[in-house]
Amino acid sequence: MKILVTGGTGYIGSHTCVQLIEQGWQPVILDSLVNSKASVLGRIEQITKHRPPFIVGDVRDASLIEKILAEHKIEAVIHFAGLKAVGESVAQPLRYYDNNVHGSVVLMQGMQKCGVKTLVFSSSATVYGNSSAPPWNEQVPTSPANPYGRSKLMVDQIMADLTLADPTCSMTSLRYFNPVGAHPSGQMGEDPQGIPNNLMPFLSQVAVGRRESLHIYGNDYDTPDGTGVRDYIHVSDLANGHIAALAYAHGCAGHHVFNLGSGHGHSVLDMLNAFGKACGRQLPHTLAPRRPGDLAAYWADPSHALSTLGWHAEKTIDDMCQDTWRWQSQNPNGYP
Ligand code: NAD
Ligand code: UD1
Repeated sequence: MKILVTGGTGYIGSHTCVQLIEQGWQPVILDSLVNSKASVLGRIEQITKHRPPFIVGDVRDASLIEKILAEHKIEAVIHFAGLKAVGESVAQPLRYYDNNVHGSVVLMQGMQKCGVKTLVFSSSATVYGNSSAPPWNEQVPTSPANPYGRSKLMVDQIMADLTLADPTCSMTSLRYFNPVGAHPSGQMGEDPQGIPNNLMPFLSQVAVGRRESLHIYGNDYDTPDGTGVRDYIHVSDLANGHIAALAYAHGCAGHHVFNLGSGHGHSVLDMLNAFGKACGRQLPHTLAPRRPGDLAAYWADPSHALSTLGWHAEKTIDDMCQDTWRWQSQNPNGYP
């Protein structure tokens, strides 16, 4: 079965393509390379011995979308393509709504025209508000705090509306918690451009000597050790979650929403210590003020994904740190 994977050379998309190929599906990748490199294709090929068809282009290009869906006889779409930097979305909201919301609309219009009914979309735990105590299930009220989060929620809502208008559509929103880790081979991983905003890529750049020291954003939260607590999920577990969702949703009409997280919270200090263990030395760190907008603690209730998809996260934070370190130490400057 042929699957269009938009954003397939990106961090989560590339890991999902590997898993798709290994499980007998045929991904066709569309990516504009705005935040990834074409050399990822060679890594997918090294791991799977198969090079998926790759088209450089933009999801907002309606005629290109229709051409790909028709020529490749696509049966389902996994839609990763999007911009994801929260701070940038605050500074450039129109760029984010255009890319993430308009891009998704153009994609769904193309699917409708070509009779492709199944869509699996990268949503985020960032769509939830902060009014509920963790763990968060899919019924937690939504109230995203920035344009990036709102762009994700808008697409979720558009998908829900579309299934009302056309009850034969299958639209699945996967709400990721904090994806981290790398392929166990060390061949693929996260390769952020510029200074990383997120904890794990920053930690791994400290470990490899590209950054001096980790800034811990606050140690006076109401958490066991005072630092922020999140639900980290290994990117390979997340990739498997997409395949489980696709297998379930293809042919199962309606709007489906699943949290993809481990169901466990870990603090910044837990991650710092686990990474130190993985790379064999204590990593330099300093205390910094809280980051504006950060919450103290949240993690997923992933029981809906377990009961409906039969999926759960298997990897530990030690696996996440060891795999990230293997990737970062073998590729200190990311992809060529
Ligand atoms: P990424 O930036 O590595 O991958 C996204 C890919 O989409 C990139 O390769 C980029 O070049 C491509 N792209 C962006 N806009 C495009 C467009 N208009 N047309 C074609 N290609 C385009 O990011 P990622 O971490 O792999 O995230 C994938 C998806 O998951 C994104 O939609 C993101 O918002 C969502 N998500 C990510 C996280 C996370 O922490 N990584 C958490 C929740 C949700
Ligand atoms: C961030 C995004 C969120 C996105 C999520 C996905 C922001 C404000 N939010 O969330 O929209 O869905 O990634 O992975 O960017 N920390 C440090 N030092 C650092 C970096 C982070 O102490 O250099 C701390 C943070 O305060 C937080 C934890 O580490 O407690 C995790 O931070 P991060 O990796 O940025 O993820 P989120 O804040 O959960």
